[in-house]
Amino acid sequence: MKYLLYEEKDKNVGVLTINRPEALNALNSGVIAELQTCLAELAKKAEEHSLRCLILTGAGEKSFVAGADIAEMRSMTVEEGRAFGLEGDKVMEALEDFPCPVIAAVNGFALGGGLELTLSCDIRIASTKASFALPETGLGIIPGYGGIQRLSRLVGAGFAKEMVYTTNRIKADAALSIGLVNHVYEPEALMTEAIALAEKITSNAPCAIAAAKKVANASVGLELSKSTRLENPAFGACFATEDQKEAMAAFVEKRPHSPFTGK
Ligand code: HXC
Repeated sequence: MKYLLYEEKDKNVGVLTINRPEALNALNSGVIAELQTCLAELAKKAEEHSLRCLILTGAGEKSFVAGADIAEMRSMTVEEGRAFGLEGDKVMEALEDFPCPVIAAVNGFALGGGLELTLSCDIRIASTKASFALPETGLGIIPGYGGIQRLSRLVGAGFAKEMVYTTNRIKADAALSIGLVNHVYEPEALMTEAIALAEKITSNAPCAIAAAKKVANASVGLELSKSTRLENPAFGACFATEDQKEAMAAFVEKRPHSPFTGK
């Protein structure tokens, strides 16, 4: 891979780094294609539970991802623009539907497509150096990777529309206050905290985590009564797993449970 780095940490945690620091990790077609391929490969590991939490970050000190590549987009036709958007959408969907949780560790600029990338992750944490914006309308375009929709759902339409219409860049503390990120850390602590959060997630039963993610995603936009019905079959299916049997037996027998197997 030319633009991506992947590292496996202990406890079934993986770290995927977008590595194009000379362009502040901007998403050109090459980065997008590599993300599609790499996420498809990693999804297989996650299905088998050898990967149980993925952390997504950007290379260098300055940027998570500074958006889609403006130099590449500048001369696109209508059709090319649509095709470029659709390829990125596939990455956003691969992250959203990824079989285990994905944490965005936002180490710097998360602008345009970079912010949109974080919105497709399950959880966002940021360093104090992070900043967030949707600069697209200042470039004569709109957010094209689902940013308007996902940001509205996360922080409400009012804040989302303000960010889209103004292009204002907000700092990590403001992002925290509107619920765009869950936690803010000093830059040198960001990856340690991301890994600690990931390990806390991977200490729980992987089938249950995967089922919870599917139910949470499928429930978005549904009426409460319809979304609670989605939950019931998934809840029932947990009782077919060895992990449920072992965890509950261990509780009743007052002993620690054996490590979760994902079976
Ligand atoms: C291409 C980019 C880039 C981008 C930075 N670079 N962002 N190249 N596309 N989005 C390149 C610069 O051209 C420069 O290359 C190098 O990275 C360093 O950037 P500088 O501008 O010199 O750094 P700095 O002065 O610190 O400014 C940082 C910055 C600025 C504020 C992040 O680079 C910036 O405003 N970038 C654009 C951010 C943006 O508008 N993003 C949204 C894009 S639209 P050289 O070769 O000169 O060193 C989008 C649409 C998504 O994301 C939906 C698509 C379907």
